[in-house]
Amino acid sequence: MPVLLCSECGREYDPSLPRWKCECGGLLDLSFLNSLEPRLLKNRAFNMWRYREVLPIDRDENIVSFQEGFTPLLKVLFGTRKIFIKQDHLFPSGSYKDRGASVLVSKIKELGIHHVVEDSSGNAGAAAAAYCAHASIACDIYVPEKTSPGKLIQIQSYGAHLYKIPGTREDTAAAVLQAAENTFYASHSWNPYFFQGTKTFSYEVCEQLGWKAPDTVILPVGNGTLFLGAYIGFRELQKRGILDAIPKMVGVQSAACAPLFEGYRQKKDIPIAIKPERTAAEGIAIANPVRGKQILNAVRKTGGSIVAVREEEILTGLSQMYKSGFYIEPTSGAAVAGIKKYLETAEKDEVIVSVFTGHGLKSGGKVYHE
Ligand SMILES: Cc1ncc(COP(=O)(O)O)c(C=O)c1O
Ligand SMILES: [Zn+2]
Repeated sequence: MPVLLCSECGREYDPSLPRWKCECGGLLDLSFLNSLEPRLLKNRAFNMWRYREVLPIDRDENIVSFQEGFTPLLKVLFGTRKIFIKQDHLFPSGSYKDRGASVLVSKIKELGIHHVVEDSSGNAGAAAAAYCAHASIACDIYVPEKTSPGKLIQIQSYGAHLYKIPGTREDTAAAVLQAAENTFYASHSWNPYFFQGTKTFSYEVCEQLGWKAPDTVILPVGNGTLFLGAYIGFRELQKRGILDAIPKMVGVQSAACAPLFEGYRQKKDIPIAIKPERTAAEGIAIANPVRGKQILNAVRKTGGSIVAVREEEILTGLSQMYKSGFYIEPTSGAAVAGIKKYLETAEKDEVIVSVFTGHGLKSGGKVYHE
């Protein structure tokens, strides 16, 4: 039976009750390990719900889905190196956040909740708004005032109520916490069900590589919803004996907002407080990642690292991808810059997987040139 487990005090909660944090204020994780038989997948549809046994929704009728996922894993040339890039900008709402939203909104439906609040730098809000619309659940989204207009229009188009909060991303997080006192908080960073969705990234990558793990995975990281989800997925696959080893996990931050990079660089197990500056990589501009300790733990346990990339490196990476025909948003440009940085010291025959996390159409209104 799945159980919600506090990462601070160890208290357990029944997941059939609505709860997004422990009474002690600690983060909850979902303790859950079902079996998965790769050979049974042969005749299933190619979407993330093909891994149904490991997705913790009790009844199929509660699944909220657009048959998303199983995005292409394309080889993309970086100089002379071929890197596998998961095309997660091709999700229905235009970012990988749909993985998490599909499972989290399914769980919200299963709990019988009809109204939620969520805060976001834009993409998680758009994903929550899309899936809530699909399930007829009312949804209020809090975003920083300066979020890309494309994301704001998208959120409103789905029928969500949009609250534009002046100030930093942290001011937005504070505003939603107030709203969460009365309405269920469908948080992508607090709620463990979101990570149960993003873990399908790893299941797909491994299946697409013939049930093998890559040597290294390079992911943009702010709150770590993809990074930690991927870690959960790889660990589950290892525990079930499907994988022998877990890949090295490398996180990419913007140097303008790099609390995890600083924590890693200073060999600490928690992020270091920083003063955030503006960055084109708005999706990873998170000064206080609530799961920062877990992210640094995943880095250490997998022998990975965190790299920081400068603004000009992000824009150069973005521009290079545009010129190869990939239309991605600037935050994904950070991943490109991170790959290039990692390749400076990579082993010759390392199998490396990275990701395009958001679609370029979301960041409309600006032209990014080298
Ligand atoms: C396009 C894009 N990439 C990467 C991320 C990073 O996600 P996280 O902050 O959960 O690490 C986000 C988050 O909003 C995003 O929008
Ligand atoms: Zn607790």
